[in-house]
Amino acid sequence: MTTNIKKNSGKVIQQACEILSNGELLAIPSETVYGLGADATSDSAISRIYKIKKRPHINPLILHVSNIKMVEQFAETNTLFYSLSKYFWPGPLTVILNQKKNNEISKLATSNLSSVAVRLPDNKIFQNIIEKFNNPIAAPSANISGNISPTNPYHVYEDFGEEIKLIIDGGQSEKGVESTVVDIRSQDIIILRHGPITQKMLENKVDCKIKKKGSNKKILSPGQMFKHYSPSKKLIINSIKPTKNCSFLGFSNIMPDKKFDGIALNLSNSGDLNEAASNLFKMLRFLDKTDTQEIVVAPIPNKDVGFAINDKLKRASS
Ligand code: TXA
Ligand code: MG
Repeated sequence: MTTNIKKNSGKVIQQACEILSNGELLAIPSETVYGLGADATSDSAISRIYKIKKRPHINPLILHVSNIKMVEQFAETNTLFYSLSKYFWPGPLTVILNQKKNNEISKLATSNLSSVAVRLPDNKIFQNIIEKFNNPIAAPSANISGNISPTNPYHVYEDFGEEIKLIIDGGQSEKGVESTVVDIRSQDIIILRHGPITQKMLENKVDCKIKKKGSNKKILSPGQMFKHYSPSKKLIINSIKPTKNCSFLGFSNIMPDKKFDGIALNLSNSGDLNEAASNLFKMLRFLDKTDTQEIVVAPIPNKDVGFAINDKLKRASS
C-alpha cells in the first residue's frame, strides 16, 4: 500500500508546509530528480535527512529557493550569479556561493562550509511549496545514499516506504539526471558536477573562463568523492555486446541482435541524449530488478548531456 504517495492539490501543498514546519521530511518532484525536502533552517530536520538517507555528514545539501531575494538573505551574490540566474533559472543549474555571515541556514545543511549550494527548480509544485513555506528548502535526491536517484514517486517509495509521511506525485522527472553544479565564487565558472546545463550552454551565455573540476587539486564538491548511482548488479559500460547472463541497456541503433533472449531496453531509439538522460535512472532501476547477473550498457556519445550520463555510468560501474 502506497498511502503516502499523493497527487498535487491545494490540500497537499498545505500538508507539505505543515510537514516542513514540524521539522519533518517529504519527497518533492523536480525537473531533475525527486528531492527529499526539509526546512533548511532547522537543525533537527536536516539531521533527519542525513540519518534516513545514511548520508555522510561531510556531504552538504542544495538549498532550493523560489526567488532571488531569498538567495540574497543567506549568500554573497556577484555579477556572475545574476547573469547565470537570469539565463538558467528556474532550471537545473546549482550555483556555489559564499555564505553571508550570521545567516539562518542550519550549519548541518552546509556541512559547516563557508560556501552554500543554491538552485531554483523548474517545477511548479516545488516552487509553490517554497513560496508558501517562505523559507529555503534543503533537498538532496530522495534516495538512500549511493543508490540510483529517483525520477518518479515509486522510486522514492522503493527506498523509503512509509518512513516519510508524504511523497508528492509529479510524474516522471523531465530531465532525469541531477542539476549541473558550478562554483562561481571567483570570476570563473568551475563545473563540479555535469548535468543538463552543459558547458556549451554556459559558454553561449556568459563570457568567462569555464574550468572543469580537477583543474584544482582541492576537493571542491564533497559529493563527488562517493560511489554513486549503484545498481546492486554488476554494470558493464561502453560495450556493444551482451554477456552470457545479462540484461542490456542500448542507445540508438546499438542493441543486441535477434539471437539475444534477455531483456533489452533502449535509452533512446532515435539517439536523443536528452531522452536518454530522462530514461537512464528509471531503466537502470528496472533492469536491476530483473533476474540477470549483469547489466551491459551501450556506449553513449560524450557530448552535451551525454557527459552527465557517462559520468553517472562510470561511477555506477566502478
Ligand atoms: O538536481 C538536483 O540537484 C537534485 C534536486 C533534488 O534538486 N538534488 C541533488 O542533491 O542532486 P544531492 O544532495 O544528491 O547532490 C548535491 C551535490 C553533492 O554532490 C554535494 O556535494 C554538492 O551538491 N554540494 C552541496 N553543497 C556544496 C558546496 N557548498 N560546495 C560544493 N559542492 C556542494
Ligand atoms: Mg544524490
